[in-house]
Amino acid sequence: MEKLQNKAKSVLNKNWKDGFSVPCANLYPFQWFWDSGFIAIGFAHFDMPKAEKEIETLLDSQWDNGFIPHIIFHTETDSYFPGPDFHQSDLSSQASKKYKSTGMTQPPVTGFVLQDMYRISKDKKATLKFIEGVIDKVYFNHKYFYENRDPKNEGLVYIYHNWESGTDNSPIWDDIWSTMDPPEYSFVRRDTSHVDASQRPSKREYDHYLHIIDIAKAHQYRDEKIAELSPFLVQDPLFNTMLIKSNQSLIDLYQLIGNNEDKIQQLKEWQDKAIKSFNEKLFDKDLGVYIHYDLRNEKPLRHISSSSFSPLFANIPSKEQAASLVNVMMEKFGNDDQYLCASFDPTSERFNPKKYWRGPVWVNLNWILYYGLKNYGYVDIAQRVKKDTIEIIEKAGFYEYFDSRKEEYKNGNTGYGGNDFSWSAALLIDMLQ
Ligand code: DGY
Repeated sequence: MEKLQNKAKSVLNKNWKDGFSVPCANLYPFQWFWDSGFIAIGFAHFDMPKAEKEIETLLDSQWDNGFIPHIIFHTETDSYFPGPDFHQSDLSSQASKKYKSTGMTQPPVTGFVLQDMYRISKDKKATLKFIEGVIDKVYFNHKYFYENRDPKNEGLVYIYHNWESGTDNSPIWDDIWSTMDPPEYSFVRRDTSHVDASQRPSKREYDHYLHIIDIAKAHQYRDEKIAELSPFLVQDPLFNTMLIKSNQSLIDLYQLIGNNEDKIQQLKEWQDKAIKSFNEKLFDKDLGVYIHYDLRNEKPLRHISSSSFSPLFANIPSKEQAASLVNVMMEKFGNDDQYLCASFDPTSERFNPKKYWRGPVWVNLNWILYYGLKNYGYVDIAQRVKKDTIEIIEKAGFYEYFDSRKEEYKNGNTGYGGNDFSWSAALLIDMLQ
């Protein structure tokens, strides 16, 4: 196990670029929001200064309105599409003057990442001092979400692009694509020169992705226009879980710091409303799990994915709801011939075990489920998630995503997407503690 840990550390050190980390070489050559958060958790175990710098750089990209972008383009490179020239963040009057970025965000992990850094730290006083210096930026980011991404004042925030979800090409989005008919774009893909096309989204899917960005750009990335016009407007259980978990972390950390009663009060208000609406609106009683809601077309998206189980991580479900989630997970995703946890329902005809978020196992979701299951006392299943995560990495390497079918591991080539992928390394280090 020590060998695996050392390898994980060398992956992180290799992807470190003097102030931030790339998710992996070539395929993702910039800084990504939620990747950075998970990476900081890994670094916190053996190099706290790098963990702190990773977060500082991420927060330094914050816009004037509190928004934090999903990609920060620190360098010029033509190995990634769509790059800064397509996204044109400077169209927004709110954008950072210092960094070029995208005009969309990613799951807001920063709050709980700060708390994890504190949990891991061997010098709690110094780490709390660091947190004190950055925490208001994270609070400001949450304020941005609740004031700009919740048009009906429900306590649930929307995402306006599949890339904001983090689960980029999930089959759930097929339901949205069927409501759209974007023009055919002419562009050169870069991802498929680094990774086999069978493991990546299709050209037609990219047309949809680019079209939504063009609509936002035509309105200078103004939130009120996006809410009015974006064909993609979704309340995502994973995204809102990350925000709710981070709310709680901010409450806990502000309590430790002291003298922040107003912010604690505001966070508690957001939190109470969010958890109530989450359970009322996103829990599907017939399926027994949490699902996504399509706010643009006013309809639930009734599919089961690993995101459906993620609310365990933020203590959102009741005991009964948690039991239901675990039942569905074990029945559909957890047979003996499967590694936990496929990213999409393996019994669905939309399941594809090799294609990015259409089925493969992802280490960050496993990490979320591991802690979520432990929260609710499902210790054995949590241990199984941990064991499965270690096993797929040992067998395949530090890949971006993995086949969930055990049988396939006899034939090799079961790690997909980018290799030496930072968060697979970072979160393995954390799970091995
Ligand atoms: C990609 O390029 O596929 C990224 O995941 C977008 O965030």
